[in-house]
Parts: sequence; structure tokens; C-alpha cells
Amino acid sequence: MPAIVLVGAQWGDEGKGKATDLMGPDVDYVVKFNGGNNAGHTIVIDGEKYALHLLPSGILTPTCTPVIGNGVVIDLEVLFREIDGLEARGVSTDKLVVSANAHIIAPYNRTLDRVTERFLGSRKIGTTGRGIGPTYADKMSRNGIRVQDLFDHHILEQKVEAALALKNQILTKIYNRRAISVTEVMDELLPYAARLAPMVADTTRVLERALDEGKNVLLEAGQATLLDVDHGTYPYVTSSSATAGGACTGSGIPPTRITRVIAILKAYTTRVGEGPFPTELFDADGEFLRTTGFEFGTTTGRPRRCGWLDTVIGRYATRINGVTDFVITKLDVLTGLDTVPICVAYDVDGVRHDEMPVNQSDFHHAKPVYEELAGWSEDLSDIRRFEDLPAAAQAYVLRVEELIGARVSAIGVGPGREQIISRHPLLD
Ligand code: IMP
Repeated sequence: MPAIVLVGAQWGDEGKGKATDLMGPDVDYVVKFNGGNNAGHTIVIDGEKYALHLLPSGILTPTCTPVIGNGVVIDLEVLFREIDGLEARGVSTDKLVVSANAHIIAPYNRTLDRVTERFLGSRKIGTTGRGIGPTYADKMSRNGIRVQDLFDHHILEQKVEAALALKNQILTKIYNRRAISVTEVMDELLPYAARLAPMVADTTRVLERALDEGKNVLLEAGQATLLDVDHGTYPYVTSSSATAGGACTGSGIPPTRITRVIAILKAYTTRVGEGPFPTELFDADGEFLRTTGFEFGTTTGRPRRCGWLDTVIGRYATRINGVTDFVITKLDVLTGLDTVPICVAYDVDGVRHDEMPVNQSDFHHAKPVYEELAGWSEDLSDIRRFEDLPAAAQAYVLRVEELIGARVSAIGVGPGREQIISRHPLLD
């Protein structure tokens, strides 16, 4: 004990690395339990910038064992590119453990993700085009390729053949693309087998042992609450379980071992891809948040859609994840505004909604009800104690805490690892 879950409270890109950094060397294992290289986190250590898409953030902490859990989908080329990139910069990746049950993103699934989006036109999801959705779809339809399949040539061939029998029909007959051969797929996947083999394990046993030994295990979600396939803004979601429940299925750690759920909430809201976003700004304020917060995707480089903080979403995240602690990130980005609006409820066709509407069409039509808080102009980047924040910034945090219904344990005031105000320890 303990196992701690870390999730994003909004639509992703909240800066989960901040919380991981805060726990730093006290975390013994960091487990990625969902998603794949659709995620992206930028970590700045001693002025050096590391952009990771697939590897768990714990890879940068020498005392930490990074684990890719069974709930993850792996693009092998990306995995080894990231490993090689880190090794070239002197970061050891020797401790990485990969679940034998994780699914592999086969080349045809990358192709299918892109051509499907193109085919959907204005009805597209706005995916990252990395093959994530089709790979999870294969997992659920029971024709996916798992890490363990790589080590038996015959089984791999059978599985690829079975998958392609269907995929090639779709590719050639619906999308008018060329068929993909079994050999092509085998030639792409097999060369990675020998390098991958020593990393592969039954990660559920590795993690059980770690917890029995009293190690700190951090389960780090990719994406975020509103991108969760069950609880997010469906269909504009990713295809995996990005909420606290997914931490259990995606890692094999049972719910009874989870002691804390930490959610990361950006001081404003961003979203990439399509889908409803009640507090989205299309004016100079939106541009201010985008440029000041440097809101451009780590994975795709797309400019992120920006808007004010939405505490209806924050409350929803508390409910769905059982959040015990929030970390507010990027508070410094709000510096310089005369007033800071916070969305406290929605107006849907004249009816006030204090909670997330269950009906997606209500959410599509939701107009934010704002409360205007006083702004501040002081630079926050060197502040390390809550009491030293300008009174208006303190009032902002306390009001947010009240509205989202769980304590705010830490506040990010800049991109650097050390630019954080701690109010309550995240590990105890
Ligand atoms: P997919 O995960 O590539 O299938 O994309 C589905 C939706 O999730 C799209 O709107 C993506 O932009 C969004 N998405 C996926 N990963 C992330 C992430 O790490 N941050 C923010 N949005 C993401």
C-alpha cells in the first residue's frame, strides 16, 4: 500500500506531470493504465524539455519503475523511438516493464483511424490519427493482437490473417484503399519482438508484489474524465477508460487497494478535437489563454480550443472519480486579467443545471452561468506558499475548491518542476 490514482479532470492536457513531479522520488512505480501514444506530456527538468507520448512519466525518475499496463495500446515503433530518444540523452529505460496482455496498434489500425475520419467528414471525432480507436475496437471484438502474441510466430500469423480478412474488405470495398498483406504486418511487428521480450511480464503480479512490500504505486491516466469512453462527452471521446475505475481494469490492481484519487484541473479549460465545450471562447480572451498558456497539442501540434474554468465539470470529475485531492495547474496563466470568470452552472433553454446534464443534447446547448471573481496582476511564478499568493488568487482557489467539492492540495504556478505551491502532501 498505497495505490494512488492520478486522473485529468477535464478534456486532457491538464498537466498531470506536475503531480507526478511533486511526489517525485517517493513514487516507486508509475503505471500507465489506458490510452497509447495519443497522449502527450511535456516534462521540464532542469530546463531540459522531454516530450513523451507513450512512456509513463516515471521513466525520468531513476528510482521509479515505469509500467505499461494491460489497458494500454502500444505502437511498437513509437515505443522504441521514445526509448532510443531517452537513452541518447542519458536517461536509462532499463526498468521499464510491459504487460504481456497490452494490445498492439497494428499498421492497418493506423490506416483505418485516418481513413475513417476522412470518410466521416464533418461528423469526424477529431482523433489523433494514431490508430487508438480501431485497436480498442479490435480488443472488444476479440480480434486484437497482444504483446504476448509477438513471441509465437505461428499464433501471430494466424491472428494477423484473421484480422486482415475483415480489415481488407473494409479498406478496399468501403474506403477504396489498397489491401494490406500479412507479410507486411509481420515484417513491421516481428523485428521488435527480441528487444521487447526482456521487458514483458505479468504486470498484475509485479504490482501486487510491490504493494505487498509497501511500495508507492501511482496509476497515471492518459487523457481525462470527459474523454472517457463511458463517462465522457460521447461520441467525442477516446476509446478507453480514463477515469479512476479504468485504473483497476487497466492495471489489474483491485479497487480495495486504492487509497487516494488525485485529479488535475487546469485553472481554465482546453479541448482538442471536436465536441461540445460550453465555456469555449472565440474572442481575444480565448487567444490570450492559448498564447499565454501555450496551448498547442504535444502530440499533433493542433491549437487547443480554450475557455474559462468550468466547475460543473470539476464537480462531475469529483463524483465520477471519487477525487480526494485536486491539483490546480497553470494558475499563473490567469495573471493580468481584470476579472476571472468561473462557470458555476449551465443554462439549458432557460433551465438552470447545477450538475452535468445526463443528456448530451442538453450539454451541447448549455450556456455557461458565470461568477466573476477579481483578477490579480502580480507575477506568481516564484511563489511557493499559499499565503504568499495575492489575495484575489487565494480567493479564486478557495472558491474553486468550494465549487468542485474536494480539497485543492497543490497549485502550479509555472512550467518548471519546482514551480508549485503545496498545501497538503499528495503522499502520506
Ligand atoms: P483518439 O484518442 O486519437 O481516438 O482521439 C479521440 C479524442 O480524444 C480526440 O478529440 C482527441 O483530440 C482526444 N485526445 C486523445 N488523447 C488526448 C490527450 O492526451 N489530450 C487531449 N485530448 C486527447
